[in-house]
Amino acid sequence: MIVPMKPSHVPQIAALEKLCFSDPWSEASVAAECENPLSLWLVAERDGKVAGYIGSQSVPPEADVLNLAVAPDCRRQGLGRKLLCTLTELLHSRGIEALSLEVRPTNQAALALYSDLGFVQVGRRPKYYVNPTEDALILRKEL
Ligand SMILES: CC(C)(COP(=O)(O)OP(=O)(O)OC[C@H]1O[C@@H](n2cnc3c(N)ncnc32)[C@H](O)[C@@H]1OP(=O)(O)O)[C@@H](O)C(=O)NCCC(=O)NCCS
Repeated sequence: MIVPMKPSHVPQIAALEKLCFSDPWSEASVAAECENPLSLWLVAERDGKVAGYIGSQSVPPEADVLNLAVAPDCRRQGLGRKLLCTLTELLHSRGIEALSLEVRPTNQAALALYSDLGFVQVGRRPKYYVNPTEDALILRKEL
């Protein structure tokens, strides 16, 4: 089930951030997103637990995906696709016309998902990522 993020999800999201990323969002930063009127975060719940999440911020008519992660034991079951598609539909219904995101060029799983859903590369940010230092590819999709 895909639901909007609420404060009770925050500790599990912060734990998944640590598990999935080398430069994770802190629990306080995730909690602040619950209060941010420009933010829309969705959670995939499974058996009452957070199995995945996606975060976005909008500055109409555009929005950015901030992060997307699925728990390792829940991957390759369509959750990442479902989170991104649901976010896209919701943002579109709210008047958002384009969605952008950054991704490591070495992140084959994420790149395959984004390309499958129609995102195209529109730029590159040199040395955007740390741990390890890497460029970011900027991808974008018109909604
Ligand atoms: C990227 C990520 C969110 C994908 O989540 P997921 O729930 O496993 O993805 P899905 O099951 O919805 O897969 C959708 C499509 O993505 C692609 N894909 C997903 N994982 C893949 C992998 N390991 N290798 C190649 N392609 C992959 C496939 O095209 C897949 O479609 P298919 O299963 O029909 O072949 C997940 O691997 C993850 O959390 N990774 C760590 C965090 C991360 O890198 N986030 C993205 C930051 S930009």
